[in-house]
Amino acid sequence: MSKYQVNEKGYYGPFGGAYIPEMLYPNVEELRQQYLAIMQDKSFQEEFQQLLRDYVGRPSPLYHAQRLSERYNANIFLKREDLNHTGAHKINNTIGQILLAERLGKKRIIAETGAGQHGVATATVCALKGLECVVYMGEMDIQRQAPNVARMKMMGAQVVAAQSGSKTLKDATNEALRDWINNPVDTHYIIGSVVGPHPYPDLVARFQSIISEETKKQLLEKTGNDQPDYVMACVGGGSNAAGMFYHFLDDETVKLIAVEAAGHGVNSGESAATTALGREGVLHGSRSILMQTEDGQVVEPYSISAGLDYPGIGPQHAWLFKSGRGQYVSITDDEAMQAGLRLTQLEGIIPAIESSHALAYLEKMTFSGKENVVICLSGRGDKDLDNYMKYFNL
Ligand SMILES: Cc1ncc(COP(=O)(O)O)c(C=O)c1O
Repeated sequence: MSKYQVNEKGYYGPFGGAYIPEMLYPNVEELRQQYLAIMQDKSFQEEFQQLLRDYVGRPSPLYHAQRLSERYNANIFLKREDLNHTGAHKINNTIGQILLAERLGKKRIIAETGAGQHGVATATVCALKGLECVVYMGEMDIQRQAPNVARMKMMGAQVVAAQSGSKTLKDATNEALRDWINNPVDTHYIIGSVVGPHPYPDLVARFQSIISEETKKQLLEKTGNDQPDYVMACVGGGSNAAGMFYHFLDDETVKLIAVEAAGHGVNSGESAATTALGREGVLHGSRSILMQTEDGQVVEPYSISAGLDYPGIGPQHAWLFKSGRGQYVSITDDEAMQAGLRLTQLEGIIPAIESSHALAYLEKMTFSGKENVVICLSGRGDKDLDNYMKYFNL
């Protein structure tokens, strides 16, 4: 049993658990009792693998980025989650969770979304399975990620605006939890990241673990060694990072780098750099690290990237940070935008602004020329074109 994986009580070190209102207990408990058995069932695995292959387009390529490698003096590989159907890693999880919901007999699906990628991925699998779909999204994110709102609507989903707080991901999550409390029997809540009460962080990480499972095989084929020196990913709630880290957790020669959003700067008062600014506390059903005031009120986060604009991180990340297994760093809006443009012009790949944060950290590292580095390119930049154009006056 890995010391970095969830224990039988639902904790990662001191983090995790299920801090939920009594009304949610039956739903979460049903999920907790059944998720492993369902996921390990042969018919589940067959359908999951078939959809990942034929519908999502997996395995996603591991691309050796030649010009990026030359710039940084390292062998840089991009795990191309941006090439998945719907354009990000989020679909790995929604495919898994829709099959889980079907087997739990649920007829109605709800989700929260920030960048809209998880909302689109949820609306997509609901169309695929003919299930009702309601997606909660902060009003501010509805405006800055308009193409994804259109995609969800076309797919038949109802998009409901969250109007409270900073009108972003945290507020959408609050609304989704409220809906679930009011509709406990027929509804499954597809959480989009490794957050929420146990067992969500574990089940989402398991569905996303396909990222590192494939990476190991692909790296072995390309370099003769399945252990890179570094794996890197951006962290909002932390699902693409959890998937990218999963099969490397116990191999401590592989360095794990998680990149948070510093917004206008860690100490600017407009940031989402959770590990730099946060303290231990409870948010959205689990004990983790979150940005909060002296008296425990959640601080409104800020990032140019809707998917990283969240005041917490999943409990496994809190544990990787606290135990020192992972290195948690942050990147500002400006650094991320420059990195997005750089990848576009060096490699012809327009990354999501979320993924640009992970790429930007390369600027702060030094290499000897021999290191193998894998970066999770969590999503494509189509949804962000407007933001890039405005930022660079194009
Ligand atoms: C492309 C992309 N990358 C990263 C994220 C951040 O989520 P997570 O930390 O769960 O991977 C999002 C969230 O919307 C996203 O759309």
